[in-house]
Amino acid sequence: MEKFNIAIDGPAGAGKSTIARLVAEALGFIYIDTGAMYRAVTWSILQKGLEPDQTAEMIQLANSMDIRLMPGPQGQLVFVDGAEVTGVIRTAEVTGNVSRVSSIAEIRSILVAKQKELAQSKGVVMDGRDIGSHVLPDAEVKIFLTASVRIRAERRFKEIQDVQQGITLERLEQEIAERDRMDEQREASPLVKAPDAVLMDTTQMTIPEVVESILELCKTQVSGGT
Ligand code: CDP
Ligand code: CDP
Repeated sequence: MEKFNIAIDGPAGAGKSTIARLVAEALGFIYIDTGAMYRAVTWSILQKGLEPDQTAEMIQLANSMDIRLMPGPQGQLVFVDGAEVTGVIRTAEVTGNVSRVSSIAEIRSILVAKQKELAQSKGVVMDGRDIGSHVLPDAEVKIFLTASVRIRAERRFKEIQDVQQGITLERLEQEIAERDRMDEQREASPLVKAPDAVLMDTTQMTIPEVVESILELCKTQVSGGT
């Protein structure tokens, strides 16, 4: 089968990583979660105790980090300088700081260079915020996944209510809306639908329905695909 690249972008909790992983599995492609890379840098910055105004130190740190993504039994595993950080990059503290860190243009350039390299030999499903618009503008298939903020908060709430004690659905909805706002309004490659991306509103769609419609789209958009 001829290989091609798929870019999946969209706001927080739209289902990007779940869908991207399943689509990659169905096609025998490699899944790359770029959000995990921004989270890994943010985690490292917090570990080092850098203050929000220490931008130069943050850039230096991002430059020196060895971030690796590897497929695991339950999704992608993330390593920083050889140590596994898959779980710790998903804490509320990292989530609360990641949009600030990812608004730093120099940090984006460092990670975008890595992402482009990973997609070089094609056969990649990459999800994030700027993949179709900036990282892989030539991706053969581009999807912009979205859903109402309420349903995205409900989906996330189900995942974290047992882990994050005291969190309410209303609070989570506010946090998600605030992160979307920061991601959409930053100057450096903001969250935006690429003009040639297909918009999919998954508010009323199940996971298998979304996966199926993306696989169908691949068949129609890529000659010789699937
Ligand atoms: O999975 P969730 O929607 O919580 O977010 P994520 O994909 O793990 O991404 C975390 C954050 O990283 C986003 O809110 C963005 O601030 C940033 N990000 C980005 O700026 N560009 C990307 N390509 C991917 C993520
Ligand atoms: O990566 P992103 O933040 O866009 O979302 P995710 O982490 O893949 O999905 C958030 C949650 O929504 C997960 O628990 C998915 O199983 C769920 N989901 C869903 O219930 N229905 C969909 N159509 C898509 C995702």
